Amino acid sequence: MQNLTRTLKKLIYFWNRTQVPIKQPVRISKIDKLIISLICIVISIISSYKLLLVSNLQSSVIFSWVLSFSEVLISCLFLILVSRKENPNINSRQILLIISLLLIVQAIKSIFVSIHNPLSIIVPPALIISQGMGSITALTWVSIASLSWPDSLIKINSNLLLITLTCSCFVSVLGGKIRSRAQLLQLSIFVPFGAFIAQWILIRNEKISLTDNQEFFASNGQIFSDSLLLAIIMLITILFIPIFESIFGLLTKARLLELADKEKPLIRRLSIEAPGTFEHTLLICGLAEEATRMIGGDIDLIKTGSLYHDVGKLHAPNWFIENQDGSINPHDEIDDPLKSAEVLQAHVDEGLKFARKNRLPKPIADFIPEHQGTLKMGYFLHKAEEKKLKINESDFRYKGPIPQSKETAILMLADGCEAALRAMDINASDHEALETISKIVNSRQIDGQLDDSNLSKGEVFLIKKSFLNVWKRIRHRRIQYPTTKNNTFS
Ligand SMILES: [Fe+2]
Ligand SMILES: [Fe+2]
Repeated sequence: MQNLTRTLKKLIYFWNRTQVPIKQPVRISKIDKLIISLICIVISIISSYKLLLVSNLQSSVIFSWVLSFSEVLISCLFLILVSRKENPNINSRQILLIISLLLIVQAIKSIFVSIHNPLSIIVPPALIISQGMGSITALTWVSIASLSWPDSLIKINSNLLLITLTCSCFVSVLGGKIRSRAQLLQLSIFVPFGAFIAQWILIRNEKISLTDNQEFFASNGQIFSDSLLLAIIMLITILFIPIFESIFGLLTKARLLELADKEKPLIRRLSIEAPGTFEHTLLICGLAEEATRMIGGDIDLIKTGSLYHDVGKLHAPNWFIENQDGSINPHDEIDDPLKSAEVLQAHVDEGLKFARKNRLPKPIADFIPEHQGTLKMGYFLHKAEEKKLKINESDFRYKGPIPQSKETAILMLADGCEAALRAMDINASDHEALETISKIVNSRQIDGQLDDSNLSKGEVFLIKKSFLNVWKRIRHRRIQYPTTKNNTFS
């Protein structure tokens, strides 16, 4: 009986570890839902209305129209679902971008009946979507755009369709991984070149029917001009990607890496005016990056987010302990816990102002309030209690919100552990370090700070382990290496 209870307890323990806190999806307003639904209906109409343009409108024709209409409508809804699944924080503007691109492509197909090469109309939008929303969303978009045609597929050469699908899938997969504008430019050369070779091999001597009564052979010149057109449109698309980034709030890998450049004016200011905070930021970057790698999160996002999380401290660097360098602590001088709490909250508010001024994308700006969540300012609350002041606990808590993503939650945990790990004795054992980390992480978990982050208990465990690994590395660096008699390193 005891064995059975023990086994049951173990099973419940493992079950609990894998559970993820329930997270509310990002809300889309009713008006946005209405606009998105209307665009989906328009796409379905454009993609199917030609079936009704027959002289003899029989019930079978109406039935096939209903079928085609519903097929496209369901595909649109599926596309939205996939994009929300891949990007839990996707907003209505970004969903609008995805379906508007589909609407434009379907309209072009419908207006220009004689599309003899669909490469130039499907590949460039796939590049935008993969860069901004990820490969899976782009692949879903590509499959709908490639397979749903207002006119019968007979009018498009099947080999050409296959080449289009292959190129678009290739762009979708690579577009989601590419981390620099230079690589994007390379893609805009290699994809059209690949498409040219494939067309030259597969369809050079094949008949391509454009309309019902017109047929011709795709000449070498035709294939070359189509591929050149694709290259030009892809280059223009790449030029326009930064505009899409600012209008639709897209965060591409290239933009993330640009923002992570330590020569950016705001980061340079942080390193000069608040060197202690800058050092703290760099250590946090290491902790957060390791933990994110361990749970398979977005490493580029957390690296950039960590860099900017405390930029608000620039408004009053010497009010934060890491920048005081043994000088007088202004908090002791004012001796007012409530005012001190206001100064701490100000590093979040001012940080958001800096983010707005420097046009930081929303996912990066989110790190500023979410890394503090609604944490208690324990030190000053304790001081206020000691002074027997009449206070509300809420005055000594950050205004939040609590972390809304795995990445901001990891940053909150790294922020909490950084000072404790830095202060730890180099002779401390791994067990002691893990205990310190666990104490800090568990206190935030019990306080409900991780409730909206979507981190499972198993992931929290992995995060603690990765913090320990980073601490081991720091300890290793701090141990002085012995030198040989000749003072040379062996
Ligand atoms: Fe902070
Ligand atoms: Fe911090």
